[in-house]
Amino acid sequence: MNTRVRILVTQKLPPQIYSLLEEVGEVDGDRDKETHWTGADLLRHVPGHDYLLCLVTDTIDARLLEVCASQQPALKLVANMAVGYNNIDVVAATRAGIAVTNTPGVLSETTADLAFGLLLATARRMGEAERYLREGKFTGWLPFLLCGAEVHHATLGILGAGRIGKEMARRASGFQMQVLYYNRNRLPAEEERTYGLTYVSLDELLRQSDFISVHIPYSKETYHLIGTREFELMKPTAMIINTARGPIVDEKALVQALQRGTIAGAGLDVFEQEPAVEAELLAMENVVLLPHIGSASLQTRTRMALMASENIVAHARGLQPPNIVNPEVLHSS
Ligand code: DGY
Repeated sequence: MNTRVRILVTQKLPPQIYSLLEEVGEVDGDRDKETHWTGADLLRHVPGHDYLLCLVTDTIDARLLEVCASQQPALKLVANMAVGYNNIDVVAATRAGIAVTNTPGVLSETTADLAFGLLLATARRMGEAERYLREGKFTGWLPFLLCGAEVHHATLGILGAGRIGKEMARRASGFQMQVLYYNRNRLPAEEERTYGLTYVSLDELLRQSDFISVHIPYSKETYHLIGTREFELMKPTAMIINTARGPIVDEKALVQALQRGTIAGAGLDVFEQEPAVEAELLAMENVVLLPHIGSASLQTRTRMALMASENIVAHARGLQPPNIVNPEVLHSS
């Protein structure tokens, strides 16, 4: 393939990606400003491009994909700069013959670092303690001041032992935690041994864990997987950590569980209606809230942007993109 393709990047990204993409085509998109695109922005800008490099905040729905597939040039591939791709209607993309790629692996350790940090911050009341100090309330050491929950030797329940979940287990082993996990498919015994994981049913994990950390992908099947019934199975001292996707946890049920003392705390990096956060959560001291920064280190974000770009470059050169999520599109024409 030797004609130069048209590539649209929806966001200012690390400078290294532009020279890589320019090896195969012309690159459009603002390189200087960080802005979020609405559905209308996407409809205005994406059609007429061969390739789209987008973020989790860009909703790539069926309508947009159909319009893009019917233009000249037709859209050929959407490269999401994220491991999760629930912002893209993959079924509609496949129907329209458009490939979709993601960025697995490169963010697992960085996201697990954040998840474990969030667990520690929630257990040891770090957000609350910092606010207390900044508000000038610290008058000296007191025996009962801001006592939190112990993390070492506690039981951690990992919901979804994929790449990030396994890295979470590795971190937990340094704190001598007992680590339970629940997955749709049980891991091979050797992997369970390597990561110190014990397989249990979902209900057993909820009953036994002091901390529950969510690491499953979001899909129709995992929508509100954790709701009122699940909170009621948890210990009253349990805390839930979510660095995966907001809608996996029923946020209104979570608010109720925290208000009623059904569980003791929550550490959230993701929200059901992101970027909106339930007002009640904002007012709670036993909740630590972060603005979806699981993979936010400059090194990791650069690796993610490069990986998304490499998928585009491979396809433009007639090769199979390394991280394709709907490979059937490549074999259907
Ligand atoms: C992902 O990769 O899915 C994250 O949520 C974005 O960092």
